[in-house]
Amino acid sequence: MSPSTCVQAFFDTGTSTVSYVLSDRATRRAAVIDSVLDYDFKSGHTHTGSADRILAYLGEQGLTVDWILETHAHADHLSAARYLKERVGGRIAIGEHIRQVQQIFKTIYNLEREFLPDGSQFDHLFTEGEVFRVGQLEVQAMLVPGHTPADMAYRVDGMVFVGDTLFMPDVGTARADFPGGSAHILYRSIRRLLALPPETVMYVCHDYPPKTRTAQWQTSVAEQRIGNIHVHDGIDEATFVAMRTARDATLDVPTLILPSIQVNVRAGQLPPPEANGVRYLKIPLNALPVRDPAV
Ligand SMILES: [Fe+2]
Repeated sequence: MSPSTCVQAFFDTGTSTVSYVLSDRATRRAAVIDSVLDYDFKSGHTHTGSADRILAYLGEQGLTVDWILETHAHADHLSAARYLKERVGGRIAIGEHIRQVQQIFKTIYNLEREFLPDGSQFDHLFTEGEVFRVGQLEVQAMLVPGHTPADMAYRVDGMVFVGDTLFMPDVGTARADFPGGSAHILYRSIRRLLALPPETVMYVCHDYPPKTRTAQWQTSVAEQRIGNIHVHDGIDEATFVAMRTARDATLDVPTLILPSIQVNVRAGQLPPPEANGVRYLKIPLNALPVRDPAV
């Protein structure tokens, strides 16, 4: 890693999400990855404490934001991408297959006609292998679907931000049972990531630590290949898919999935206000095609 490359992590204890600021010290340019807009489920209020910590860091370091990146449309937290863009600028970007996710959830939520599932809510959609810059850093976008159809990883200077493909080795991998998800495809995406040079540093998007340790978010390709409890070397696709499918059948629906996705497919923009000036989130009843915990 070049001495000019800097990564600062921000762990949100409420959603176990890790947001990152990737920066190039030489040019003072930065990218924000997977930001969090705090949301209180009980009161329906949004808060900006998590995003404001990132803004404070950007200010202290004198960083200019070029990109506000999402690895995917998250189902566990609302994105602060729009809030950050309004304050410090930067282009909001995600993988081009977000269109597929938008189409799926436009149907589930019956979103307004003006919401187009064409990715136009984002400033840029990455294609597989596309290279972009943060200052002098070259970042490569890697399409790594499976958890959702649109997951991206961002590879830069001996590091890779893997989103929700892999978690820490003792936690394993992300679920693949959301609409459009696939354990088969997730396995192949993970193998692509594990084919990177073994010394590649991996930054994960969540940590759900066992009681024996505190939250962590940095590991390596080598550590994952040796020790990931779901996909270490030697686990073949059929074994992984059987494990993942059985495990997903036991997982509860994430608490914030319904509030989150309808905001995140809009690139972090809250739904348009109604005639009284208030914005509303929609809760589709008996419509989400995931396991019903009551059954
Ligand atoms: Fe996710």
